[in-house]
Amino acid sequence: MKEGHKGFTSSAGVILAAAGSAIGLGNIWKFPYVAGMNGGGAFLIVYLICVAVFGMPLLMTELLIGKQSGKSAYGAFRTITGNNRWQWLSWWTLAGVVILMGFYFVVTGWCAAYLVESVTNAYKGMDATALAEHFAITVTNTPKMILYGLLPVLLTGAILWFGVNKGIERLSKILMPVLLVMMIVMAVYVLMLDGSKEGLLFLFRPDFSKITPQVVMMAVGQCFFSLSVGIGALITYGAYMPNTQDASMTSFQVIVLDTLVALLAGVIIFPAVFAFGVSPEEGPELVFVVLPAIFQQMPLPWLSSVMFFLLLFIAALTSTISVMEVAVASLLEAFGGKLNRHHVVLITTVIVCALVSLVVLSMTGAWSKLTIMQHNLFDVSDNLVTMVIMPLGAMCMSLFVGWFMPIKSIDVVPYSKRPWKKALRPMLIFSLRFVVPITILLVFLNGLGVF
Ligand code: PFF
Repeated sequence: MKEGHKGFTSSAGVILAAAGSAIGLGNIWKFPYVAGMNGGGAFLIVYLICVAVFGMPLLMTELLIGKQSGKSAYGAFRTITGNNRWQWLSWWTLAGVVILMGFYFVVTGWCAAYLVESVTNAYKGMDATALAEHFAITVTNTPKMILYGLLPVLLTGAILWFGVNKGIERLSKILMPVLLVMMIVMAVYVLMLDGSKEGLLFLFRPDFSKITPQVVMMAVGQCFFSLSVGIGALITYGAYMPNTQDASMTSFQVIVLDTLVALLAGVIIFPAVFAFGVSPEEGPELVFVVLPAIFQQMPLPWLSSVMFFLLLFIAALTSTISVMEVAVASLLEAFGGKLNRHHVVLITTVIVCALVSLVVLSMTGAWSKLTIMQHNLFDVSDNLVTMVIMPLGAMCMSLFVGWFMPIKSIDVVPYSKRPWKKALRPMLIFSLRFVVPITILLVFLNGLGVF
């Protein structure tokens, strides 16, 4: 670990920070609407298979690369190989980080706006039509979107200012348990509504005839996004891991927490949607239009709305922390001799503020020429990261560890003598050499319409 990289001090800190990165808008905003549009239970089954087949090995891979090199995404490959041949993969992941921040902070800004408006009871008496109009006006209101988009950037910068241990670790240890408790309370509350059972059946009773190549592709994309694999966020956290920590167990715990939260989000959203007779296939607006409208009809409208948007904001914030830390750690590695953590956090925050403003200007139409192939920067960055950069980044990392990293350094379970744990290494290597890359390639080619 280089100077300025003070690592995590406890294994709980690593698990909660990595779970904080994984658990985010992907679980609470994206998972329910993507599942809703792709068959509910059928999607869930495919998703769970993806998590087991790619999620687990890829999470271990990123943590291992970080742990082995002691470096962030920028310096990790160079340190392990001793040359620059894999440096392009560092640049690939860093490009992913920058592009992801562009749209992720914007949606985190929506959550902040909805949280503030929930607190001020702005949705009182609004029905779904009024809320749909409100959403459309909100996301195209340039000053409002810039203001709310920059708020989480500044907050994330402020947390990173305090460093890995006093900033990221301390905050994750507080926010992650708070988030889990709030979600359980909300789930219990929603399940008490009449008619909520239908929603549970939609999520947990799979209709296998709904599994199509499109469903599989969406599930693969969702798996990478939700587990934060493919752009090096977990390489950076791996570098901060105590040497004695077991990467396989950590990955398993993070996966369990991440999946649990996605399921809890489904258990909050679908029963509410079904209890009020709304279609689960509303798409990205499900959480920002349908849900606030439903909250208005529930027994405790103010409390449910505030609690939901607060938990969404907390989940998003622990993810933005992990992505921005990749940029901070990488800059520190690149300019470590000349700049300290505070300088780098300031520089990164200013750059990300500019980036988020650009995405907002393109999205609200204020700078309508700021588009790529007639799509605004928000849509382009979302699709580019989820469908291209993360899967291909993950595929290359898997090939890197499977074929190019010295086998003895793939110590997933460094100090264990248990036979089943010893079997993990050959299983992981097989999976990284063949199963993961071939499957990702097939899914990717299918997405391009090759088959
Ligand atoms: N996993 C986060 C979510 O589900 O919202 C998104 C994410 C965070 C992706 C950090 C990638 C990343 F590096």
